[in-house]
Amino acid sequence: MSISILGIESSCDDTSAAVICDGYLLSNIIANQNVHTLYGGVVPELASRAHQRNIIPVVDQALKSAGISKNEISAVAFTRGPGLMGSLLVGSSFAKGISLALDVPLIEVNHLQAHILANFIVDKDHANRVPSFPFLCLLVSGGHTQLVRVNDYFDMQILGQTIDDAAGEAFDKCAKTMGLPYPGGPVVNKLATEGFPAFTFSKPRIEGYNYSFSGLKTSFLYFIRDQVQIIPGFIDDQLKNLCASIQKSIIDILMDKLMLASEELGIKEIALAGGVSANTGLRSAITFEAEKRSWNCYIPAFRYTTDNAAMVAMTGFYKYKQHEFASHSIVPAARLGFTL
Ligand code: KG4
Ligand code: ZN
Repeated sequence: MSISILGIESSCDDTSAAVICDGYLLSNIIANQNVHTLYGGVVPELASRAHQRNIIPVVDQALKSAGISKNEISAVAFTRGPGLMGSLLVGSSFAKGISLALDVPLIEVNHLQAHILANFIVDKDHANRVPSFPFLCLLVSGGHTQLVRVNDYFDMQILGQTIDDAAGEAFDKCAKTMGLPYPGGPVVNKLATEGFPAFTFSKPRIEGYNYSFSGLKTSFLYFIRDQVQIIPGFIDDQLKNLCASIQKSIIDILMDKLMLASEELGIKEIALAGGVSANTGLRSAITFEAEKRSWNCYIPAFRYTTDNAAMVAMTGFYKYKQHEFASHSIVPAARLGFTL
């Protein structure tokens, strides 16, 4: 009998539902919330209200576009955390309700593990080329920056992580300094492709495989403030070069630790995950180093880098195979640790 998993993701500001059947993705529907652009960041209360409005149509559309009926669902997987509590509550309550109504198991999913397991998603456009264990994964999102050794689907070890801001946060905050809209990462990326990294910023000196981005964000802010005092139109004149420069600095910091870990641990299976892995500069940098260092590198398709339910359904599929089910008394966890 085939295994069909309905995945539900609602950890931040994207409401998403997906269906995976026997490990093959049939649908992945995402409703973005533009309302936050006005405020320069995600407003938690508005996010949970939008999830409430979106969740039923999104799940309905995911089932329709997968071409399956709700009675064919084998289990419901949902994001338990980490994330915004109000947002998580909408997805988890809905998942519990569906699982009870259909009398199918409930599966809890750690959002960060799901980002990493996005590298295993197989769909009609994405061939089945997946990392072998153990592999190193650079997990870079709006809330997290971690270098992870992945020994098995659910055996993941954090080698290093940011001690302050996440890489996505650095993109978003520097974008805000330049007056660009939220989320700044994709905007900086787009402008950077037409600019030149003319400005350099000093790199943090952090022990081991840990990261830090708050110093870079502050130097960027002070640099711009000083330049604007001399040349009032500095940001507009240099916008593309500023974007290329900050993007290069963030990528260099990320790549340095990844290369160090690969060398020291002797692992050449390298994967990327999380929203910032949509960055074309980072994708090129990793592909370039892969050539030079004989790495096998794996980068999820663009649509599976930022928040999506396909990765939640994929994780749910592996948990289903291990009969790892959750109780209906489970509660969301805003600050869920990395391992479950
Ligand atoms: O994984 P994600 O969708 O949500 C979290 O779990 O945080 O990541 C969102 C982050 C945001 O900071 C956004 O600016 C960043 O990913 N991002 C990018 C790009 N696309 C999204 N950063 C740089 N370049 C991009 N192309
Ligand atoms: Zn995420």
